[in-house]
Amino acid sequence: MVTPEYNNTIPAALKNTIDWFFDEWAAKPVAFVSYGGMSGGLWAVSHLRHVFTELHAVPVRESLLFHQVWRKFDGDRPRNGEETEVAAKNLLDRLVWWADALRTARAARPYQR
Ligand SMILES: Cc1cc2nc3c(=O)[nH]c(=O)nc-3n(C[C@H](O)[C@H](O)[C@H](O)COP(=O)(O)O)c2cc1C
Repeated sequence: MVTPEYNNTIPAALKNTIDWFFDEWAAKPVAFVSYGGMSGGLWAVSHLRHVFTELHAVPVRESLLFHQVWRKFDGDRPRNGEETEVAAKNLLDRLVWWADALRTARAARPYQR
């Protein structure tokens, strides 16, 4: 999930979209990429972790944050490409690990709320 941060949280439109679904999130992994000014979406991601825990999803620990995002990109490409690539790889590796683990677990035993 990719989000900007406004006034220390996620945009209302994103929360509305998340809340449109309920059963679909259960026992699914979710990873976060955020961007913004000083906090780079740190608060937004923190709030998403609370929301997705309530929805029985599994937020992965790793995240990718872009502080002062307007300084971090050269067109579509991040300026500190190597650093971003390592962080993105860690995030995706972890997401895949949880996706595999949870898929196996859901198949073995349907998730009950
Ligand atoms: C009204 C307003 C509030 C903002 N609040 C925050 C904030 O709390 N934390 C932060 O990191 N960035 C904040 N920003 C910076 C935005 O996250 C940044 O401009 C971002 O690029 C907005 O994403 P968007 O253009 O895709 O909507 C704020 C920007 C505005 C205009």
